[in-house]
Amino acid sequence: MANETERTGATPSIGASPAAGSSADAWRAALTARRTEVAADVVVPAAQAHAPPDAEVSRRRFILGAFWTGLGVTLAGSLGVFLDFFWPRGIERFGGPYTVGHVDDYARGGSPLLTTAAQTWVVHLDPGDTRYGGSDGGDGYLALWRKCPHLGCAVPWNPSFAFEGQTGWFRCPCHGSTYTKAGIRVFGPAPRSMDTFDLTVDDAGNLTVHTDRVTSGGPDNAERARTVEQLREAAASG
Ligand code: FES
Repeated sequence: MANETERTGATPSIGASPAAGSSADAWRAALTARRTEVAADVVVPAAQAHAPPDAEVSRRRFILGAFWTGLGVTLAGSLGVFLDFFWPRGIERFGGPYTVGHVDDYARGGSPLLTTAAQTWVVHLDPGDTRYGGSDGGDGYLALWRKCPHLGCAVPWNPSFAFEGQTGWFRCPCHGSTYTKAGIRVFGPAPRSMDTFDLTVDDAGNLTVHTDRVTSGGPDNAERARTVEQLREAAASG
């Protein structure tokens, strides 16, 4: 065969000295042709011995595999730490549940209080507030969306605004729509009363407005008000 050296007495071998029977020309020819063969009776020095090519490839692949696996695990761990650090938790925003304070924060019959981030007015209606523009008979807590049903302006509570001889109304600054404390429309171009959100209370008395659960405003706004007891009963009944 072309790439094999015939195993003869004159064939030079690694580890065998030229003086041991091979001519210098034969060595040069063998080295030039890079054809080597170890004679069966020659011991190859360890320094000259090489691992089989397949074994070297396998070891190289193993080292590379270990390297990339280690790198992958390190990157995955770093990514996990990064996400764990920056992942938002317990963030409340408009469009979901929003804690708007404690029931004691809202005086019965007092002025509505705004939670800007929730775009919500919460009012504690007193059925004894019978003036025009008052509670409209509502009893309890009511969450009103401050967005005007006309063209969407933010509706403020104006305690000094006078209308029909009474002061204290929701009065839209854009086109003048006017609403009672229960958000019932009494004047202006708005097509309906102020919309309301569902409201819940926990055992500690914290109120949560659910800004993803909207009921279109209507003349029955005041009837949607709920006392703390009613809110708890509703929570208990699921
Ligand atoms: S946007 Fe409020 S009255 Fe027009």
